[in-house]
Amino acid sequence: MTDQDKSAPDQAAEPQEKSGIRRKDLLKAALVAAPLPLLVGSAAPVLARDQAASGVELTPTPEACDPGDPPTRQQTEGPYFKPNSPQRTSLVEPGTPGTRLTVSGYVFGLTCQPIPNALLDFWQADVNGAYDNSGYRFRGHQYSDAQGRFSLQTIVPGLYPGRTRHIHVKVQAPNNPILTTQLYFPNEPRNNTDTIFHPSLLMTVRDVAGGKEGTFDFVLNVRQNPDPPDPPGGTWTSGTSYRPGDTVTYGDVTYRCLQAHTASPGWEPPNVPALWQAA
Ligand SMILES: [Fe+2]
Repeated sequence: MTDQDKSAPDQAAEPQEKSGIRRKDLLKAALVAAPLPLLVGSAAPVLARDQAASGVELTPTPEACDPGDPPTRQQTEGPYFKPNSPQRTSLVEPGTPGTRLTVSGYVFGLTCQPIPNALLDFWQADVNGAYDNSGYRFRGHQYSDAQGRFSLQTIVPGLYPGRTRHIHVKVQAPNNPILTTQLYFPNEPRNNTDTIFHPSLLMTVRDVAGGKEGTFDFVLNVRQNPDPPDPPGGTWTSGTSYRPGDTVTYGDVTYRCLQAHTASPGWEPPNVPALWQAA
């Protein structure tokens, strides 16, 4: 491949996306510069990677899913995707040059429940910024495990003209549409000039023994079990002591207490005719 062929190839196909940057993206950008000690009050699930094997609490990663978050942003697949990649979790072969990189994380749906058995198909440039278009070097697919986790062993991809450092990926929950996107590295000078780059797609990257470790959680546009419906309104209140003859309303129906008791969940009037009778 000539340099000319490689000139900004992904850029040509990238649709111009105009939506604004979310607060969370700014937080993420800030976190990669200076990690916060704790995300106080976060609804994010506690993920296994936040706790080292020693039991020492690590800094929570900023990607963790919050219900109501929009799905992970889509990006162009660029010109170098090839179907039928081998199934493997390591793209590193003996003697492969480059800084070792592990990319791991979770696949979530819209309500942040993990998605098992999601297909993740990765492809990237080699250490010199070249894609293997005749074979399958630095291409591979895998499936998230029962907890929605994935882990990829690879190298830090090289740069090529017109783009910042990135890894391509397609993620698909069973029987759902494909998300095509790209993952980025913090503190890359070209992040500021690559028009495809988006901060919501930054991995959290740490230096570890023998290389680097990146984490990213995908949120797929997949509906999951909705929240349970609100309980019907009424004056019945759990924890209240009721005496015979007391009346309450529950779901627009009035009930009269038959036996003295203290109300508790599961003992709502419609469920316990021994305690409540419709008035
Ligand atoms: Fe690319």
